[in-house]
Amino acid sequence: MTRHDSQSDGDRFATIAVGAAKTGSQPHRDGTNDVVPPIHLSTTFEWASGEDANEHDYSRESNPTRAALEEQLARLEGGEHALAFASGMAATSATMLSLVPPGGHVVSSNSIYSGTEKLLTEHVAGHLGADIDFVDARDPDNVAAAVDADTDLIWAETPSNPLIRLCDIRAIADVADDHDAPFGVDSTFASPYYQSPLELGADVVVHSTTKYLNGHSDSIGGAVITDDDGIFEQLAFAQQVGLGNVLSPFDCYLVARGIKTLPARMERHEENAMAVARFLERHDRVARVRYPGLASHPQHELANEQMSGYSGMLSFEFDGTLIELEAFVEGLEVFTPGASLGGVESLVEVPSLMLPDEFSRSEESAAVPETLVRVSVGLEGADDLREDLRTALP
Ligand SMILES: Cc1ncc(COP(=O)(O)O)c(C=O)c1O
Repeated sequence: MTRHDSQSDGDRFATIAVGAAKTGSQPHRDGTNDVVPPIHLSTTFEWASGEDANEHDYSRESNPTRAALEEQLARLEGGEHALAFASGMAATSATMLSLVPPGGHVVSSNSIYSGTEKLLTEHVAGHLGADIDFVDARDPDNVAAAVDADTDLIWAETPSNPLIRLCDIRAIADVADDHDAPFGVDSTFASPYYQSPLELGADVVVHSTTKYLNGHSDSIGGAVITDDDGIFEQLAFAQQVGLGNVLSPFDCYLVARGIKTLPARMERHEENAMAVARFLERHDRVARVRYPGLASHPQHELANEQMSGYSGMLSFEFDGTLIELEAFVEGLEVFTPGASLGGVESLVEVPSLMLPDEFSRSEESAAVPETLVRVSVGLEGADDLREDLRTALP
């Protein structure tokens, strides 16, 4: 395991998350000694020269509340630089549009969030004329076979949405290094608490902060973290100027507030997810459970190697008809049917019934089974979650 293999690593992460570690700048402390960074709504800042010069001019380019969040995000991921965007998709699109030139080449895992897949097929390929190779990235040899000297970006999502497939970040980072291609990882499902792609060799990490980082289902946002100065310059230009795609000060405040409880929430998400996964695995109307914490997950060993915990996302295949599945969803009382994930409340999503876009993938993409149920396990009582499933399952 990478980060919390010792108690002190987990403790250190918790200290950074709360924001008490005394390194780096603390812009919010100036003048007032606020413990909580205030929300700076000002769009512009009075110009001054010399010693009084202000580091902020105009809030699209930089804003104190955003700067405080970005510093915190960088430290959580163990990276040099972080940028906060208006959504997870904004973070991903800024990365792709900055790194992939017209007519370029991308090698992507074939098991990724449907929005990312559509960004690649419709925009990066459709508008920019780039060539996209979707591969089964569970085997790094498939990535190696598709990459060449002209590859502009390698993209993976691990664990993936909604199939909960993993990719070996270190092995793919080696392939990327061999070809001098940047390697981006969407680590949303793991959160920075349970996975550190930069430590494993990735060049760019993307999060939808909408999910675990904010954690309370009340803010849409995204983040990119990188150690690479050149990539940072390109992405900062996209964020601040080229695309002008920034997270609002209020959302920055909400994400920064969520981050403080990330370690405590993630441990509870994982504990509950394990309880739910074990319950489902024993149920006779469940054909298969996909959770990296189960020994039955084909990549359980890889999860143990590259994650420091299994997080709170799982999916399962219902053994029955779509009509029975719909009745199951309607019978749930503690779990709420709905899109999104990573909040305190437990959610279920059935792509085939609820989200045609997530279900209907391109041919190159890994197919989503019709009776697949994605579960974001929240922070309720584990007994109540199990009881809800027991009652609703036929
Ligand atoms: C893995 C993953 N990445 C990115 C996104 C996009 O994030 P957002 O909805 O914040 O744009 C999602 C959304 O569900 C996701 O699940």
